[in-house]
Amino acid sequence: KAEDGSALPPTQRGVRVPPGVTVFDAASWNGIAIDSTCGGHGTCHKCRIRVEGGEVPITRHDARTFTESQLTDGWRLGCLVHATRDLAVEVPPLTTRPKAATVGIGRQVILRPALQKRYVELAEATLSDQRTDLVRLTDAIDDLELTADLHVLRRLSTVLRESDFKVTAVVLDEALIDVEPGDTTAARYAIAFDLGTTTVVGTLLDVGTGTPLAVTSSLNKQQPFGGDVITRISATMMDKDALGRLQEAAGATLAELATRVCREGGVDPSQVYEVAVAGNATMTALALGIDPEPLGVAPFVMTAAQPPSVLASELGLSLHPRARAFFFPALGAYVGGDIVAGMLATGMDRDKRTRLFIDVGTNCEIVLSDGETILSTAAPAGPAFEGGAIRCGMRAADGAIEVIKVDPHALGDDPAVTLGVIGDVEPRGLCGSGLVDAVSELVRVGLLDDTGRLVTDEAAKEIAPGLADRLARIGEERVFVLHRPTPETEVAECVYLSQRDVRELQFAKAAISTGWTLLLEQLGLEHRDVQQVLLAGSFGSYLSPASAVRIGLVPKLPVLRIVAAGNVAGEGAKMALLSVRERAGALALLEEVSYVELSDRPDFNDTFVDQLAFGS
Ligand code: FES
Repeated sequence: KAEDGSALPPTQRGVRVPPGVTVFDAASWNGIAIDSTCGGHGTCHKCRIRVEGGEVPITRHDARTFTESQLTDGWRLGCLVHATRDLAVEVPPLTTRPKAATVGIGRQVILRPALQKRYVELAEATLSDQRTDLVRLTDAIDDLELTADLHVLRRLSTVLRESDFKVTAVVLDEALIDVEPGDTTAARYAIAFDLGTTTVVGTLLDVGTGTPLAVTSSLNKQQPFGGDVITRISATMMDKDALGRLQEAAGATLAELATRVCREGGVDPSQVYEVAVAGNATMTALALGIDPEPLGVAPFVMTAAQPPSVLASELGLSLHPRARAFFFPALGAYVGGDIVAGMLATGMDRDKRTRLFIDVGTNCEIVLSDGETILSTAAPAGPAFEGGAIRCGMRAADGAIEVIKVDPHALGDDPAVTLGVIGDVEPRGLCGSGLVDAVSELVRVGLLDDTGRLVTDEAAKEIAPGLADRLARIGEERVFVLHRPTPETEVAECVYLSQRDVRELQFAKAAISTGWTLLLEQLGLEHRDVQQVLLAGSFGSYLSPASAVRIGLVPKLPVLRIVAAGNVAGEGAKMALLSVRERAGALALLEEVSYVELSDRPDFNDTFVDQLAFGS
């Protein structure tokens, strides 16, 4: 622990982040606090880190902040160092107890958590002072209008007398939820959950300082019921017990993560008083045991946009017995609380720029803001980006090819195809970002034409002689071989991209680009008007911006305008725990954002067909 009581970052941690993000963002996304008062904008000069080994350019801000010898030693401002390759970085402990925390995409959040603790030393009751115990306590905390429930009243008199009237009041949104003996004000913890369909992430936060103490993730235990929301909704329609089991599985996932982050952060679970959960509408319904069937059938309605807050124990979490769970509200059946949290984390409602937010996944959520009006929609992209329906597709795990570069003019020993593989192991398959890279590269060198067809063998020999021998057939289908373990390996045993895979990607990208094209049209905007594209979610963050532009997944813009936003749902959940004002902002989004139903629009089909081409 640091002098101020906040936890130091672990001494050794390896984290994986999308290429190009700043060390400051990478640390923040991974629960490692770096000093800052400007939120990563290069103006406060507090985010000092030391890069061990490797050349990192010196910016003019670095030159103004550090001495010559510090610069030689590797000291830099963390928000100006971009992780374009593996880096070893030393993060010094926080020097001051912050009043604000940096979360999301450079959002500075003034700390005003719903969870408050007040230590008071009360005068004992006497015959001349017969105020009730509750009044005695509330009189001493005059800046809050406290209410107390029966649970607290049952403990109050005993705790007061056993601790000589020296107690800490635990308050959640002005409700007194407990009275603890002595001074426990330093122990104010909460957990932010990103409840994803595939992966769930939990971050333990010290809400007194805004410091993330531990972050961990696991697969959603609902996986056996199906990989996506539709199969899980169907499971509840076919088996009346499935809803209960899905709810239990969600609770078990959250409970396991809570136990792990508390252990890692060295925190007693009974000192965690609040959790915030950002999940899509189906995950939220299932975690709360609400029938999700109406979400899965037209006209796709939610039971309620804003679920009530519930006791964390009702979700199966063993935290403080009165700990409460806040669930983010949803804008629609397919633009859920995870997107509302993401909008909060990226400041979609505060920024005056024209920005496009895309969370790429099986269901792709799109938000467009021109600084005045905010529109949202959902596009069913299908499973291609998660490696589903792709012949050699796989999740982004060890052995997945995630980066591909092809060089049709490679000479001598230079490779014509260079692969980046997760875990640096033998390639086993192709994940979503690898698929996008593969198609983009083949379009770039001309082996795939604009309609998405692999060119003939003859044309390939002319266009890219060094690559032509990678075109092959499996049965009737043409494929491009990406990795052949040995020269003798049969094509079917190789890792390859098939013509059908290209078609799958075309449909997925057309669904998404139709979404943002129609939103841009609705606001009378062109591609070039978009000042920033935020790619959110675990897949979007690893996507190569250049490849995304080339295949038309995002508007045709300079790549610098395309930003990997990371796990913004989790960041939004943190913000809701750190600030009641931000939480109110999330609720206000329900009024501010209009949902656009695409399938209703007469121009939907024509736009979709236009968007199938890679040149579109
Ligand atoms: Fe303020 Fe880097 S965070 S200068």
